[in-house]
Amino acid sequence: MGDSAGWWQRVHARKILRSVAAGAAAIGLASVGNVDAAEPADRGQALYENHCAECHKTIAHTRDSRLVRNMGQLEEQVDRWQANQKLDWSAQEKAEVAQYLNRRFYKF
Ligand code: HEC
Repeated sequence: MGDSAGWWQRVHARKILRSVAAGAAAIGLASVGNVDAAEPADRGQALYENHCAECHKTIAHTRDSRLVRNMGQLEEQVDRWQANQKLDWSAQEKAEVAQYLNRRFYKF
């Protein structure tokens, strides 16, 4: 009796382990999937917040005297600032930050 209870517990424990592992894998996959899906929208924001927001908390992108009047000028300014900060962003990264700023502030 003790033996068969032990057998059951072992099988059960293995099943639980397996479903935990499968669950973890599923969660892992799901979150990787989410990161992928969200990346184009969120990477520009993350880059901006890491490298630019420090100054721009006080310097709003919404002031009336703003330099940027269209998407091309916005891209130029992003390029200028990333160069100024020696960030060496790829064209893709610059585009994502410009798109993020446009969504958040400029709305061209
Ligand atoms: C050292 C502080 C500082 C940092 C860091 C900084 N900026 Fe700026 N930014 C400014 C100041 C000051 C201005 C306004 C005067 C000017 O354009 O020279 C400005 C202006 C801008 C403008 C034009 C705003 C407008 O509409 O007039 C954009 C776009 C911009 N910055 C983007 C960025 C991006 C993108 C980064 C990160 C790569 C960044 N900035 C990092 C200080 C900073």
